[in-house]
Amino acid sequence: MLVKRNSMTHRLGRLDELPRVTLGHTPTPIEHLVNLTAQEQSAQIYVKRDDCTGLAFGGNKVRQLEFYLGEAQRQEADTVLITGAVQSNFVRLAAAAACKLGMDCHIQLEERVPKDDENYRNSGNVLLDKMLGATLYSYADGDDEAGADRQLGLIAEDLRKKGRKPYIVPLSPGHPPLGALGYVDAAREILSQCDDSGLAFDEIIVASGSGNTHAGLLFGLRACGSNIPVTGTCVRRNATSQLERIRDRCREIAVLLQIEPVVTESDIILTDDYFAPGYGQLNSAAIEAIRRAAQTEALLLDPVYTAKTMACALARASALGPEKSILMVHTGGTPALFAYAKDLADLFSEASPAI
Ligand SMILES: Cc1ncc(COP(=O)(O)O)c(C=O)c1O
Repeated sequence: MLVKRNSMTHRLGRLDELPRVTLGHTPTPIEHLVNLTAQEQSAQIYVKRDDCTGLAFGGNKVRQLEFYLGEAQRQEADTVLITGAVQSNFVRLAAAAACKLGMDCHIQLEERVPKDDENYRNSGNVLLDKMLGATLYSYADGDDEAGADRQLGLIAEDLRKKGRKPYIVPLSPGHPPLGALGYVDAAREILSQCDDSGLAFDEIIVASGSGNTHAGLLFGLRACGSNIPVTGTCVRRNATSQLERIRDRCREIAVLLQIEPVVTESDIILTDDYFAPGYGQLNSAAIEAIRRAAQTEALLLDPVYTAKTMACALARASALGPEKSILMVHTGGTPALFAYAKDLADLFSEASPAI
C-alpha cells in the first residue's frame, strides 16, 4: 500500500514541498449509502465525507485553506483577508483557521443571493463568522469578482499602514490556485482508499463553484494515472463559462506543481441541469435530494452546493444502473441550512405540523 502511495506521490510534482499547514481531519471516510441506493434501485451510491474535515463544521475549504494559509505563514502574515457570499462557507472556515493559527481575520460579505430574511442575514455562517471573532465588511456587487478582490486590496492597504501583515485569499481568476492543491491531495487520498478497500468507482460527482475542488480532484486523479470520469455540477455559473474556468485552473495547477498538464479538454465534464434559478437558490430537484438523503441516510446536505450535487448524483446513478458504483463528494456547507431555515421549514412543515 505504501509503495502505491509513494508511486502516486512521485507523479504529483512539488505537491508535498509547497507550504502547508495542517487544519483538517483526514482521510475522511467513504460511506456506502445502502438505504438510498436500495430506494433508488440504481448504481451503488457512495459518499466522500468531506463535510467531516473537522474544523468548525468542516467542508471542502478546509483542505484548500491548508495551502493558502501555509503560504500566508511562509510570508509571516498576521491577518487573513477573504471575500465571499453572505453565507460563504469559505469565509467561515478562514475565520476558524485564523483562530487556530493565532491570526486575525477580515471578511468581506458580497450580495450574491436575492435573499433578505433575518435567518439568511444573521444566522448560519454569519453567526459563526461573528463567534469566531472575524471583522466583517460588505460589498454590494456579488457578481464582480475582480472588484471584490480590489476592495479587499484596499482593506489590506489600510491594515499595512497600521503595521499589520495581511494575506489575501483571492477570489477572481488569475491567481495561483493554491486551494486546488487540497483536492489534488484528496484525489491521492481517494485512490489510496480504493486500493485499501477494493472499491472502484465508475464516476465521481462534485460541486463546481470557484472550480478549485473540481479541477484539483480531476487533475490529481489524472496525474496519479486514474481515468475515473469526474462530473462537475455547476452551482455558480453555466457550464460554458465553467468549462473555461476548469480548463484554466487545470493549466495553472500544472504550473504550480511543475508537471505536465495531464487534463485534456474531453476530461472536463460539466452539467448545469441543476443550477437554476441561480447561485444559492433552491430548486425542486435540490429539495428532493435534501429530503431523500436526510430521511434514508441521516445525511444532511446544504442548500447551495451539495443538494444540487446530490440531485445530479441521483440522476447519474439511475442512468448508470445497478452494476456500477458512483462517489458523490460531500463538500460540507451544512451551517447554511439554518440560514435557509424559513424556506426549508415551509417545505418540511407538512410532515410535521406546528408543535
Ligand atoms: C460547501 C461547498 N461545497 C462546494 C463548494 C464549491 O467548491 P469550489 O469553490 O472549490 O468549486 C463550496 C464553495 O464555496 C462550498 O462552500
